[in-house]
Amino acid sequence: MAQNEKVLVVDFGGQYNQLIARRVRECNVYCEIISYRAGLDAIRAANPVGIILTGGPNSVYLEDAPTMDPALFELGIPVLGICYGSQLMSHLLGGHVCRAPEREYGKTLVHTSEESPIFQNVSRDTICWMSHNDYIETPAPGFTITAYTDNCPVAAAENREKNLYAVQFHPEVLHTQEGKQMLHNFVYNVCGCKGDWKMDSFVERSIVALREKIGGGKVLCALSGGVDSSVAAAMLSKAVGSQLTCVFVDHGLLRKNEMEQVCEIFGGGEFEMNFICVDARQRYYDKLAGVEEPEKKRKIIGEEFIRIFEEEAKKIGRVDFLVQGTIYPDVVESGLGGESTVIKSHHNVGGLPDYVDFKEIVEPLRDLFKDEVRQAGRELGLPEYLVSRQPFPGPGLAVRIIGEVTPEKVAMVQDADAIWREEVAKAGLEGQLSQYFAALTNMRSVGVMGDERTYDYAIALRAVTTVDFMTAESAEIPWPVLQTVTSRIVNEVKHVNRVLYDCTGKPPATIEFE
Ligand code: XMP
Repeated sequence: MAQNEKVLVVDFGGQYNQLIARRVRECNVYCEIISYRAGLDAIRAANPVGIILTGGPNSVYLEDAPTMDPALFELGIPVLGICYGSQLMSHLLGGHVCRAPEREYGKTLVHTSEESPIFQNVSRDTICWMSHNDYIETPAPGFTITAYTDNCPVAAAENREKNLYAVQFHPEVLHTQEGKQMLHNFVYNVCGCKGDWKMDSFVERSIVALREKIGGGKVLCALSGGVDSSVAAAMLSKAVGSQLTCVFVDHGLLRKNEMEQVCEIFGGGEFEMNFICVDARQRYYDKLAGVEEPEKKRKIIGEEFIRIFEEEAKKIGRVDFLVQGTIYPDVVESGLGGESTVIKSHHNVGGLPDYVDFKEIVEPLRDLFKDEVRQAGRELGLPEYLVSRQPFPGPGLAVRIIGEVTPEKVAMVQDADAIWREEVAKAGLEGQLSQYFAALTNMRSVGVMGDERTYDYAIALRAVTTVDFMTAESAEIPWPVLQTVTSRIVNEVKHVNRVLYDCTGKPPATIEFE
């Protein structure tokens, strides 16, 4: 496969580091994250056209602070240091970094120099996001100051001759109003990138590469109907057609009409593949009958999935390749890419697959961020409602029904959820929310309908905004939207007489209810 020009993000443990890589890719330049621990040889071997040193929680002047071989700055590769990265660059090259008299945090007015290539087409006074306790008191010899704030004499500095650039603020966060232009300037004006990272060519090249790798082999894919596995399946279908078998398990815990939609897209003939939809609804309801404990429910669902998948795989016979929808944040978060602590070990559909007799795992989306996966899905001709889908947990609606799962409760939560989603779409709120759904509380309460007393269930509506799903905030929904949804749910969904809105963030709550 032809190599893309690549920018390397050297990770010092800052919280926005994935964001830096995403922003660079939005400029159509391929970008990877590597831990600073990987060292100079690994950086050289990656052959990048530019290097970005990230922020991080440490102080460069302390013993044991993460550091870099200063020979990095002699490679002749342009370097941009951000926050900690800018301080480290100054420190290693002979500048003075110390604790700032005033900590800067939040949106800050920065005065920029028109001379700097980083600030071309950027306002002379521009709002940037600051978050630092230390600052560069004196820049390193050979560096010119190119930006300052009221409290920070060196908000940016550069040694243009050596192509070294330092910014104290965070151009990668959206609060830095012209941050994207600054990163664009670095990759295009300084690194001389041409911008060869485009989704259409990525998809084309991947298809060719998959074809080569798979040859005449058999490929198996567990399709969940989520974005990642759907895009992976579509790509494999274009690459090897009927050598691919997709297994989709309807566990009876899907959103309303989801099974029909997935079957129509993948079983409808547009994508060449063998498509198996296993109707396991009753099997799941039987297994889940009487089970109330959340972890037990999850376990049953996961295990049953494996059993079903195993049965189907046996019918197919020897499989050469197994497809997984792993994406780049999974790789980084598993500790394989950058410096981030291991947040979660990556869990795919149901925790596959010791038992399947296969030669190799194929992960065609391993290099992509979520928004790029969606873009790849569009290139492959998947419908918008599928590619723009919000996350949906593997155990499905079971974690949105508190307590025992029954077919009746599933129907209630499906209907309420469909109404909530419809009204969110009508109000044009979709783009502002990261995830939103209805859950069925296990609470019944007294109500009145017509002249009748009722004793029925309460539906909880949830809508959150989040960047990484590790923390989240409850979203502010316009009152008229909540009123409309409430009125529709109590009127249209049988056995619901109360609708509640969940105002809790994560922490202390989680996004899902179980
Ligand atoms: P919580 O509830 O832990 O959810 O705040 C965080 C994000 O993860 C999703 N989630 C899951 N996804 N299998 C999945 O594939 C699971 O078992 C699972 N549990 C939670 C949840 O929807 C949210 O986006």
